[in-house]
Amino acid sequence: MSYLQVNHLYKKYGDTLALKDIDFEIKKGEFVVFVGPSGCGKSTLLRTIAGLESASDGDIQLDGQSIINTHPSQRDVAMVFQSYALYPHMSVKDNMSFALKLAKRPQQEIEEKVSKVAKALKLDALLDRKPKALSGGQRQRVAIGRAIVRNPKVFLFDEPLSNLDAALRVEMRIELSRLHQELGATMIYVTHDQIEAMTLADKVVIMSQGEVAQIGTPLELYHQPANRFVATFIGTPKMNVLPVDSVSASDTTLDVKFNSDASIRLDASLFQGNADNAKAIGFRPESLAFCEPEDGDLKGDVEVIEQLGSETLTYIRTLSGETVVVRADPKFTPTLRQTIGVKLTPEKVYLFNQEEKSLNIYGEVSHV
Ligand SMILES: Nc1ncnc2c1ncn2[C@@H]1O[C@H](COP(=O)(O)OP(=O)(O)OP(=O)(O)O)[C@@H](O)[C@H]1O
Ligand SMILES: [Mg+2]
Repeated sequence: MSYLQVNHLYKKYGDTLALKDIDFEIKKGEFVVFVGPSGCGKSTLLRTIAGLESASDGDIQLDGQSIINTHPSQRDVAMVFQSYALYPHMSVKDNMSFALKLAKRPQQEIEEKVSKVAKALKLDALLDRKPKALSGGQRQRVAIGRAIVRNPKVFLFDEPLSNLDAALRVEMRIELSRLHQELGATMIYVTHDQIEAMTLADKVVIMSQGEVAQIGTPLELYHQPANRFVATFIGTPKMNVLPVDSVSASDTTLDVKFNSDASIRLDASLFQGNADNAKAIGFRPESLAFCEPEDGDLKGDVEVIEQLGSETLTYIRTLSGETVVVRADPKFTPTLRQTIGVKLTPEKVYLFNQEEKSLNIYGEVSHV
């Protein structure tokens, strides 16, 4: 059953349409991530749910009630910002108690809640410190703790980890996942980092230019992208996409010529009937293998090799000047400037039409 429902939501700033017909629902206890490039409307959507921005049109329902005209303080949501927004003159304990004091909760209840949450967040030894005497990670934990003690219906996080260094981000990410499970809380988390989205979310809402590009589990977005935008946004390094020159279709096969000098035969039953209109072909770096130049579906010259230890990324410049990235077995190391063949995995190929929609038929796939 849906817990938070966003219905045909629009937000205009003057002539800028920051949110366009946003429509989705969230179940109680779900961890939902809004992800997309800078300026796509993630924060605006989150702030509109929090009531910090007013909607231009549409409705938001929380737990069966419309909250669209409800004052932010009455919405029973708690927001955690990138900037932490702690009260600098208050101790950790007072920062965490503040909302409960405002709500005039009994002193004993406040003490109990704050101490329990402080323990869970490993802040119990820091309760008397002021925010300026804390590290970035500790401050962010106080900000999260302050939200948790309020026991809101929904937690709203706007890029809460982006001020932290890489190692601490990973640590806090795991901490948040754990907290989510422990609390059984409904959480919405905004990030532009697709790795954060993939690792944290039960459900990802991927946005582009004020619109929802696709909603799905992390693996659905990875394996079954609805369009070129999602296909290239999810996954690192990103999916290779090259222009298609022509497609000739038989009942059972599609022969795709692409990138001036490359071709591949695909199983027509994996694509929609109008796949002969394909304008672009996509394949992920991890679904490619090296071979002799004459055996490849595609060939090119090795331009850059990135050795990362656990994997090697090889950037190949094709004859038509496009770059293709291959994530290959680290045991196989091509040499720079060598001409090399690349074999595609036909059942892991994507085709996109003029409007950049995926032409693949996904059906019930098992993602193995
Ligand atoms: N107060 C405002 N007045 C006018 N335009 C605004 C306002 N706030 C946001 N916008 C515009 O709305 C669009 C969406 O902005 P928003 O802050 O929601 O993006 P975002 O996805 O959170 O980006 P980022 O990843 O950079 O934080 C942008 O084009 C932005 O310029
Ligand atoms: Mg933002």
